[in-house]
Amino acid sequence: MPTKLLVFSALCSLAFAKSMDCRMKVHESVSAPPQGYVSKGPAPADTELNLRIALAQSDPDGLIDALYNVSTPGSLAYGEHLSKEDVEKFAAPTAQTSDAVKAWLNHAGVNATPISAAGDWLSIALPVNQANKLFDADFAIYTHSETGKQTIRTMKYSIPTELKDHIDLVHPMVAFPSPVSLRPVVSTSSDLERRATKHPANCSTSEVTPACVESLYDIPPIKVTQRHNQLAVSGFENEFANQADLQTFLEQFQPDIKGATFTLQTIDNGTNPQNGSEAGFEANSDIQYAISISHGVPTTFISAGPNNTDGDLDGHLDMALFLLGESKLPQVLTTSYGFDESDLPRKLSHKLCHVYAQLGARGMSLLFGSGDGGVSGLQSQTCNATFVPTSPSGCPFVTSVGATQLVSSHGGETAAPFSSGGFSDFFFRPKYQADAVKSYLSSIGSTNSGLFNASGRAYPDVSAIGTNLSIIIDGRLKILDGTSFSSPIFAGMIALINDALLRAGKRQLGFLNPFLYKNPRAFHDITTGSNPGCNTTGFPALKGWDAVTGLGTPNFKALKEAALKAARVPHPHPIETECTMQDVLSV
Ligand SMILES: *[C@@H]1O[C@H](CO)[C@@H](O)[C@H](O)[C@H]1NC(C)=O
Ligand SMILES: *[C@@H]1O[C@H](CO)[C@@H](O)[C@H](O)[C@H]1NC(C)=O
Ligand SMILES: *[C@@H]1O[C@H](CO)[C@@H](O)[C@H](O)[C@H]1NC(C)=O
Ligand SMILES: *[C@@H]1O[C@H](CO)[C@@H](O)[C@H](O)[C@H]1NC(C)=O
Ligand SMILES: *[C@@H]1O[C@H](CO)[C@@H](O)[C@H](O)[C@H]1NC(C)=O
Ligand SMILES: *[C@@H]1O[C@H](CO)[C@@H](O)[C@H](O)[C@H]1NC(C)=O
Ligand SMILES: *[C@@H]1O[C@H](CO)[C@@H](O)[C@H](O)[C@H]1NC(C)=O
Ligand SMILES: *[C@@H]1O[C@H](CO)[C@@H](O)[C@H](O)[C@H]1NC(C)=O
Ligand SMILES: *[C@@H]1O[C@H](CO)[C@@H](O)[C@H](O)[C@H]1NC(C)=O
Repeated sequence: MPTKLLVFSALCSLAFAKSMDCRMKVHESVSAPPQGYVSKGPAPADTELNLRIALAQSDPDGLIDALYNVSTPGSLAYGEHLSKEDVEKFAAPTAQTSDAVKAWLNHAGVNATPISAAGDWLSIALPVNQANKLFDADFAIYTHSETGKQTIRTMKYSIPTELKDHIDLVHPMVAFPSPVSLRPVVSTSSDLERRATKHPANCSTSEVTPACVESLYDIPPIKVTQRHNQLAVSGFENEFANQADLQTFLEQFQPDIKGATFTLQTIDNGTNPQNGSEAGFEANSDIQYAISISHGVPTTFISAGPNNTDGDLDGHLDMALFLLGESKLPQVLTTSYGFDESDLPRKLSHKLCHVYAQLGARGMSLLFGSGDGGVSGLQSQTCNATFVPTSPSGCPFVTSVGATQLVSSHGGETAAPFSSGGFSDFFFRPKYQADAVKSYLSSIGSTNSGLFNASGRAYPDVSAIGTNLSIIIDGRLKILDGTSFSSPIFAGMIALINDALLRAGKRQLGFLNPFLYKNPRAFHDITTGSNPGCNTTGFPALKGWDAVTGLGTPNFKALKEAALKAARVPHPHPIETECTMQDVLSV
């Protein structure tokens, strides 16, 4: 130990001012690996590690303040979304922070590459023996007993005391990958093959189509006009979206926009092969509903490939950071993949959530399926003591979308039992939902008490139909369930509203939640059903907001009216748009 200290002080006096405190201080530690992981001894000295360093930002709270200012109807700045540069001012580390961290890394001979536009995330590559020295760490090989998956982690790491306030976290270090990674939330449990219906306009409980969705939510046949209005659909986990299947789907179910296509954006060496046998259930569901419900708003499929380096996040963080680096952003992004909240370390979840806040401040609406496991998490599973919240739905700066199903007797909707909903253990409840959730909690009384965190951010925010949806996959009609449908359906409607806003010379909606909770009357309140799991009947759907269907399902006309009314005529500064989109409008 004394020798080590000497080494570090020598290093320190060279690199920094003499007055600096150069002792190493433990930054993060765990007492043992998670259950299921077994240590196989020290990691080979020369194995190369790819690590990310999240630097402290100049003003992370200021960014959140600015986000609420531009997203809360009635605020003077409503709709005045921040530019890329404005956001980077909040997110960038101070010169003092970058200089101190760079000096430390330079001195150790470690090259750091910025991987975010604001420079607050750095990537470093170094062999295990050097990482052990630099971070006073003990990298070892851990094997997951069930999956056999090997991973290199340390039980603790340290940084110089002087850098404690300059470095938020280093990743992946003490955080172990969850044995199950980012998962799609489409469920194939009721996977039936059918012949195409002849009357798609009629809502049938066993076969829901775009025309049915339009009649449920009062969406008129609209011709979209704004070419700079953009909708993005994210793809992960080798889920590929097929153009030929989209054509078949549109010809069958939305012939007004047949011929509409999507453009492809890849990150992390992503691809989108078009052989029908490789079409993904999740990717096809997302793209077919996003495009048909938005009536052909220019759409991009963003495919994240296998070469991600964001540790346990499977490209999720890479995608968000990639978008932040773009000068033109799509106005809406829908994602039907997620985690159980407990799969991710708390600090990392907060960092990812802040990246979503930065995108929201720039005027993006981020929608996520809430999950398909009721109160038991992303997918149905045996619980331990408490309910399992999902991620990123727990992040207050995204819009979480739950699911409903049709009731045959009256043609209305009820909560889908698989619709995930509940309360985050990682994020406090934001102000915009405080009143709505307070009345819900008082209505349910002691139901489920002790099984969830009553002070947490509550989700979902809204819902849309998610049971017995028709899609085309490899040329054939299939019927599937999932909040995977609810998110692109809701996203498609927001893209349509943005079309109307932009046409009226106003700004897109951006981060939606403050606007949504101020307009509960723009929703069909769902008051029946529940989301069972964990040996309970779950949360009940009740009058007003509830932890199964949120505010309810959208009434398009009412929501559009509310959006047009809330929007102010913007100050003249360039609207952020995507100009490289191919023109997909056939009219
Ligand atoms: C947000 O709005 C409040 C009230 O108008 C203002 O005082 C504050 O400076 C704004 N914050 C940011 C970051 O724009
Ligand atoms: C569809 O709905 C219309 C009007 O409600 C009705 O006349 C027609 O019979 C229905 N078609 C089918 C196939 O159910
Ligand atoms: C979905 O379709 C199946 C097969 O037709 C049917 O048995 C089931 O009741 C439908 N689900 C709902 C919620 O309507
Ligand atoms: C991932 O990166 C490795 C190393 O750079 C490369 O060999 C491999 O081809 C990449 N994978 C894909 C799918 O591009
Ligand atoms: C894979 O991704 C890396 C990093 O983004 C990039 O430099 C490389 O060109 C990509 N390779 C391929 C084959 O796309
Ligand atoms: C598509 O994939 C199937 C199954 O992998 C293969 O048999 C077929 O040859 C492929 N078709 C084309 C055009 O590559
Ligand atoms: C239950 O606890 C075990 C052991 O800690 C853990 O591996 C598992 O993921 C937990 N299950 C859930 C649903 O949280
Ligand atoms: C409840 O949520 C809050 C907010 O994230 C958190 O600080 C607290 O630790 C949580 N409690 C439990 C028991 O998880
Ligand atoms: C669920 O409840 C049953 C009956 O009370 C009990 O036998 C079972 O152990 C419980 N399962 C879990 C996972 O708590």
